[in-house]
Amino acid sequence: MSQPLITLDFLDTPALPTPSVEANTHAHEPSGEVRVSPTTRTGRKRKLYIESYGCQMNFSDSEIVSSILFEQGFDTTEQLEGADLVLLNTCSIREKAEQTVRMRLAQINGHKKRNPGLLVGVLGCMAERLKSKFLEEEKLVDLVVGPDAYRDLPQLIQQVDGGQKAVNVLLSREETYADITPVRLNSNGITAFISIMRGCDNMCSFCVVPFTRGRERSRDAHSIVQEARDLVAQGYKEVTLLGQNVDSYKWASEDGLEHVNFAQLLEQVALVHPELRVRFSTSHPKDITDEVLHTMARYDNICKYIHLPAQSGNTRVLKLMNRTYDRPWYEERVQAIRRILGDDCGISTDMIAGFCSETEEEHQDTLSLMDLVRYDMAYMFFYSERPGTLAARKLEDDIPLEVKKRRLAEIIELQREHSRVRNQRAVGRVHRVLAENFSKRSDEHLSGRNSQNQVVIFPKKHFKKGDYVDVLVHEATTNTLLGEAI
Ligand code: SAH
Ligand code: SF4
Ligand code: F3S
Repeated sequence: MSQPLITLDFLDTPALPTPSVEANTHAHEPSGEVRVSPTTRTGRKRKLYIESYGCQMNFSDSEIVSSILFEQGFDTTEQLEGADLVLLNTCSIREKAEQTVRMRLAQINGHKKRNPGLLVGVLGCMAERLKSKFLEEEKLVDLVVGPDAYRDLPQLIQQVDGGQKAVNVLLSREETYADITPVRLNSNGITAFISIMRGCDNMCSFCVVPFTRGRERSRDAHSIVQEARDLVAQGYKEVTLLGQNVDSYKWASEDGLEHVNFAQLLEQVALVHPELRVRFSTSHPKDITDEVLHTMARYDNICKYIHLPAQSGNTRVLKLMNRTYDRPWYEERVQAIRRILGDDCGISTDMIAGFCSETEEEHQDTLSLMDLVRYDMAYMFFYSERPGTLAARKLEDDIPLEVKKRRLAEIIELQREHSRVRNQRAVGRVHRVLAENFSKRSDEHLSGRNSQNQVVIFPKKHFKKGDYVDVLVHEATTNTLLGEAI
């Protein structure tokens, strides 16, 4: 398969952000030697409360952070009240995501007034984007740590214990936290995330991620497979392989003898155990290969569901977005999914309404692409300009907010209809469901997902969480399928 050939000839060739040491208040390397005091002044174990915003990568990173601090003797708590260290793992993807964190910080300020000993840290993408500016803007923040600097947390906390503020926002070309076993937070003991790569080299013009997460790097394949094996040994039934762009996963052993691409990694993880379900996210339409689709087809335990964000259905807008594929390319990839995996494979998308200079006709192209693909599900947004991105520097954010919102509402409305139709197809059929939790409405019902990622709810009978259950679906709503175990 050839690569899509669209270059962004009217914008400057994007310069990828390079690792920076800007805004480091201290110049030392993270050291494994540091021990933070694990107890409070009263001799009780220090308690960490961590809250995650944004994408699954952030939730997965919080498990790494917890592991690092667990090693230092911290306990984790699910209550902010009574915590000694509060960490917010933040997201910068849209302005609203940042506002949510600012509002949460204001609430935490109230807690800090009652408990002056409370330490407050900001992690993740907002930490990386705002760096030490955070300390000026939000006086209550003691600690600012970027996504590649979590190994330095013990040292930074020590610095804060000593009465200073601390920042480390160094980005790395190598860090994958491959050797750190995550502490599974809020886990149901059944499904888990495995990060397989970090960063992103794509430079979509609207997107802040390449700036907050740095260069793309793939994690050692052996450590990924081992993590999946360990999870199976602990009774887990499903793993989701995570990366901003999983299809560009590419790892080579140091001696250069072993090369693993995403299709091969997927196969290796699928082979860990036939009862271990494997999911992955996110697939970039420019990179998803037929080899990946054939691998999915070969293994029953690889879930038949692909999150394939289109962003727009119009080629000119896609070009402005620097997505590097055009509409025909995207349509061809969807046809390949249907050809190799059949119409039952679930497909979802992300869509952005009202990107710079998008015309009404171009917006209609997004709707027509949706009609063509009939997505099972979609995450839909209106465009939010992010400082420092290519679009912010080169394009005008010229679509009025009411127009963006109206276009978004049309996209949402159409998707609701498509989700309903796709869910309706599931009625009258038997689905293999992995029971994950009790239903939100009743402890007498279990909730889980089928291979296509549709949520299925059914009376629990003698079944329990972690069981695979064959469910005959008799009713569908926009978001859920209802059925009965057979
Ligand atoms: N790596 C994934 C996307 C990660 S961000 C991919 O390439 O598909 C998740 C989604 O947020 C994006 O797919 C996009 O739809 C949305 N998004 C990113 N930046 C945005 C912005 N500036 N305004 C509105 N939505 C945005
Ligand atoms: Fe952002 Fe594009 Fe990278 Fe996704 S692929 S994280 S949208 S730059
Ligand atoms: Fe947000 Fe960062 Fe993820 S910006 S979407 S938390 S990579």
